[in-house]
This record gives sequence, C-alpha cells and structure tokens, in this order.
Amino acid sequence: MEKRKPRTLAEPFRIKMVEPIRITTEDYRKEAIKKSGYNPFLLHSDDVFIDLLTDSGTGAMSDRQWAGIMMGDESYAGAKSWQHLESVVKELTGMPHILPTHQGRAAERILYGILGGKGKIFISNTHFDTTRANIEFTGATAIDVLPEEATHSEIDLPFKGNIDVGKVKTLIQEHGLSNIAAIIMTLTNNSSGGQPVSMSNIKAIREVCDENKLFLVIDGCRIAENSYFIKHREQGYENKTYEEIAKETLRLADAFVMSAKKDGLVNIGGLLTLRDEKISQQCTNLLIISEGFTTYGGLAGRDMEAMAIGLKEVFDPDYLHYRIRSTAYLGEHLKAKGVPVVWPIGGHAVYIDAKKLYKNILVDQYPGQALVCDLYIKGGIRCVEVGSVMFGKYDDNGKLIPAKNELVRLAIPRRTYTQSHIDYVIDVFDDILEMKEKNKGYKIVYEPPFLRHFTAQFEMT
Ligand code: F0G
Repeated sequence: MEKRKPRTLAEPFRIKMVEPIRITTEDYRKEAIKKSGYNPFLLHSDDVFIDLLTDSGTGAMSDRQWAGIMMGDESYAGAKSWQHLESVVKELTGMPHILPTHQGRAAERILYGILGGKGKIFISNTHFDTTRANIEFTGATAIDVLPEEATHSEIDLPFKGNIDVGKVKTLIQEHGLSNIAAIIMTLTNNSSGGQPVSMSNIKAIREVCDENKLFLVIDGCRIAENSYFIKHREQGYENKTYEEIAKETLRLADAFVMSAKKDGLVNIGGLLTLRDEKISQQCTNLLIISEGFTTYGGLAGRDMEAMAIGLKEVFDPDYLHYRIRSTAYLGEHLKAKGVPVVWPIGGHAVYIDAKKLYKNILVDQYPGQALVCDLYIKGGIRCVEVGSVMFGKYDDNGKLIPAKNELVRLAIPRRTYTQSHIDYVIDVFDDILEMKEKNKGYKIVYEPPFLRHFTAQFEMT
C-alpha cells in the first residue's frame, strides 16, 4: 500500500519522563536580564521558558541510551564502554586512532595546539568561535573563506556552507605553502547559518590538499545533519543511507574533531580521530596530560556508552527527517510573518538577520543583542547573538570592526521541545515585530580578551 505523507510532522518518539519548565512574568524577566548584565549566558536556566541558546548537550537521550548509562563500565583503563565507542567511531570514520575528549573544544585545543603556533595559517569555510579561539591562542591566524554569494542571507542555494576553493588556492599562494597548518571544513557550517556543505565541495578541497600535501580536518559535530542535506540536495546521493554518506565524507579527511554534544546525541563528550600515527602520538601525550588516559579522555564510562549508542541512533531516517523538517518549520513560519531569516533554513538552528529587523540600531549598538534581550523579556526565550558581540574586533583606536553579519541564532535542542513549544516561539515574534523600534541597542561595559560573548556585560544605550 502506498504510504500517505502526513501533513503534520509528528515527533517520532513519545515522552517517558518529563522535566517541568517555569512560566514567569514579563516584569520578572526584565529584572532577571538586567541582573545578568543583559547577557542571557548569565541567566539562571530556571528563569528561562524555552531555551534555544544552543543545541549542544541540551538534547534528550533515548531509553536505549539511558539503559546504556546503567551499563557503563567505569574501569580506568580498557573499559568495555570504551571498546564499544572505539569500534563505532572506527567504523564511522575509517580512522585508526580514536581519542575521546570531554567535549569538542578539548579536541580542538589538543589538535590545533600541535598543528598551530605563531605564523601558522588555518583556512576554513568558517571557524566556529571555539575553533578560532583555540587557533588564535597558539599565535596562529584563522581565515574564513565563504563564497561571496553565501554571505547574502536571502539567496537560496542548496549548499551555502561550502568553502570557496578558488580563494583557498589564492591564500595558499599568498601565505606560502609551508605556513598553512590545515584546512578545516565545518559541517554543517554553524556560524554562517547552520548551512550544509556539499560532497563535491569537500572532494574539491581534498584535491587541493592532495596537490599541496595539506592537512584536512573535518569538524563534523553535525555530520548526520549535513548528510541529510547531501542525500536530499546533491545528485548521486539519493539512494545512499545517511550513514554511508557520513562515512564517505569522513574518508576524505586526515582528522575529525567532534563535539558529540550535537550529533552524538549526548549531554557531554567529544572526539578527536586521526589517520597519521605521529600526530596521533603527539595528541595522545597532550590528551593524557590534560584530559585523561587514552581509553576515557575526560569522560565517564557511562558517557562513552551513551555516545556509542547516540552515534548510531542519529542516522535513523525518521529521526533525521523530523530533525531537519522541524527546524525548517520554525524558519518557514517566521519568514511568513516577515521576520528576516537566513535562507534556506539550516540544520540545527534558525538564524535571524537582526540588522535587517532592527533597522534603527547601529552595528556598534549591537542589534543582535537587542533582539536576544527582547525575546527573553517578551517570551522567556533564550538564544544567542552571532554577530559583532561574538566576532567583533577593535582597531588600534578602539573602534569596533564589526562582524560580517549581525545574526541571532535560535538553536533547537534535539528531541527536547514539541511543536507547540515552537508554535509559542513563533507567536512571540508578533510582539517583537510590534515593538522593534523601541529598542535603542546596547553598549558593552565589561569584556574578557577571548570569547567575550560568554561573560560580557551590557547596558542599554
Ligand atoms: N565546532 C563547532 C562547529 C561547534 O558548533 C562547537 C560547539 C564546537 C566545535 C565546540 O564544541 O562545545 O563541545 O566544546 N558549538 C556549540 C554551539 C557550543 O552552541 O554551537 P564543544
């Protein structure tokens, strides 16, 4: 019998355990955000109704993963849970050296600590903020090379996360081959809108790496989501499974770094996997000094067990279809209301162009931060600015060099909220559209030297 397509995308799971969330008043939230220096990272989570700050470590685990937690082997060395995780990751990556870490940035710190250093250059489709910080911390430089068309938030292209291969070649010539430490492909491209990268783009960059003997890293914390887009948007992949596509992708890389808090479907965990024996030995030394022994990294045995199960579950076709379509549902409804969203909608989040929405707020008064605060005050919704607060720099005279875009990210935790939560978020945007002219923006009154968005303090201008 032919299967009828359901009109409503019903979640492919039912709820076995509930976690209450608190409904607060607008006056209460005005006080709470003021006390947090207008930085939602500093809010208490029980003052938040719908938490779209991140999709990282905020997902719900399955009954099978929770069962795995109870089966975790907590032996210091050679635990069964480690063997389980190692075999799943070896099969996925095809790489011989698997290093567990407590989260993604630990893998980054170890790998870029070894590949980086003063004078070295890293080139990426877009470095995520922790990637850039870990690279710059070594004294190296991180350069993003998105194609021109991908920087326009409304152009409808299937793979807006791609790297500009032509520009990469020019950069190699300009900086000299020996100074290029690595090329990093971020899948999906988080900071530029959660946009996917095509297989042909990764293959093209692999060729450039082969021609020049360059090291290719895949930051694949959303590799399953990227595989979904390849299957549905790239010719030749329609009959492959998501897992086959992920395997094909990872076989193109020399190293794979992963924050398992995303497509590992766990609350904590990370991975660094490598082909090269020598680099892997250097990384292993750093791992032991800072994370833990080679068979647990910074993780408990139960975390590794849950990760091993999560890395298989994430490729389930019903799950991935629900995941990508439910993110698109939010984006499509916001767009229909006239909210300027980055188009097309990416995998894990909806990105809003705050500069277009808050036309009256100048870049150095941080329109993204204004939207983030308004969403909290009006709806108890927490999300993050991805613009000049996150990526802005200062010139020698202390003037702001703004980021390329002033975006706000509504990241969707995996398997956590229902469609009615998302409908509520869509409703709150009616208030935002009504009141947007009232907000005059913010100024920064405290900031640390690295990753300032986490702890910066703001005042209204
Ligand atoms: N790479 C990418 C592409 C990421 O999105 C993240 C984390 C990391 C590396 C670092 O991993 O957090 O486990 O140390 N992104 C989260 C986010 C924080 O909200 O997008 P981590």
